[in-house]
Amino acid sequence: MYNFSTALAGIRAGEKLSREMVMALLAAEGRQVSALFKAADEVRRATVGDAVHLRAIIEFSNYCRQNCLYCGLRRDNCSLPRYRLTEAQILAAVAEAAELGFRTVVLQSGEDLYYSSLEIARLIEKIKSRHDLAITLSLGERCREDYRLWRQAGADRYLLKHETADADLFHYLKPDSRLSSRLQCASWLKELGYQTGMGNMVGLPGQNLETLATDVLLMRQMEVGMAGIGPFLPHPSTPLKDAAPGDLELSLRTLAVTRLALPYAHLPATTALRSLSPEGLRLALSCGANVIMLNLTPQSVRNKYLIYPQKADMIEKPEAALEKVKKLLAELGRPLARGYGHAVKTGGGNSGANHES
Ligand code: 5AD
Ligand code: SF4
Repeated sequence: MYNFSTALAGIRAGEKLSREMVMALLAAEGRQVSALFKAADEVRRATVGDAVHLRAIIEFSNYCRQNCLYCGLRRDNCSLPRYRLTEAQILAAVAEAAELGFRTVVLQSGEDLYYSSLEIARLIEKIKSRHDLAITLSLGERCREDYRLWRQAGADRYLLKHETADADLFHYLKPDSRLSSRLQCASWLKELGYQTGMGNMVGLPGQNLETLATDVLLMRQMEVGMAGIGPFLPHPSTPLKDAAPGDLELSLRTLAVTRLALPYAHLPATTALRSLSPEGLRLALSCGANVIMLNLTPQSVRNKYLIYPQKADMIEKPEAALEKVKKLLAELGRPLARGYGHAVKTGGGNSGANHES
């Protein structure tokens, strides 16, 4: 059985990770927590550096064919007014992101088949022809052919969080999906040359430290270029409305351990972390995170992309949000990255990494 110090020394020395080792790190308490965060911060500085990458996220449809028990966009949530942005509205939001200096746009939606794969491909081509921007897609589980088409159209990255690496819990939470099919999607994305992101929620009902350790090991095994870790936040119009929210410190410990397990990955200070605590952003940047996503969804629909309540980025105008982030980064002595922020070193399509500045 590992104790915390042996596990920390082992992971830093690049020893093969075991579940026990990861669990010993996740279970850090008292002074061990500061040692874990310090180690993650040092590793982050030595690998991906001090610069923080900003991504503009555009949530272009809140329709979803899935019925995830935790998510406000689930198809059975009839209390949520639904919206879809037109291509022109999406392009306007993209243009705003480019003008504000973003180098990446993240196009995200629920699993909405209203836009055909070809329409999405054409949108990607238009964005690429008009702007010097990297494109990240976050559109859920699709067939390999759709992923291929969009990659060919110019998409650089794809986020497909695995949510939990426990297959039974996964099926309970996502009744229409299976962990194995989601992982198949992630493998296709990697094969197709996408910089691929996975990630999990922390504090899901039925989850424990062993499950969380499996999440970290799975992302390491998949050699993901990006990993989004955030607390579960109960939404009042979902079956999990009475469940307890994820714990801030455990979410941060998971983030820190992920940094140690995937030293070169791009790890965002997730919106969920920032929603759980006003200090979430600062804390995450201090224990492994190097990416911030800012919301550029048009104000008129933004409050309808309510995956969980009290989402941190609901009201702020992009300019104001940017100013706040710049101020915090200055305080932390962390520069804004100027490059695209492509994945470095870890698997999944590193082709653009040398554009990095
Ligand atoms: N709490 C925290 N994160 C959530 N997500 C969805 N619902 C919740 C919730 N209740 C996250 C999932 C999903 C992304 C769109 O938002 O990780 O991948
Ligand atoms: Fe749909 Fe994603 Fe929400 Fe599940 S988590 S209901 S797939 S938007």
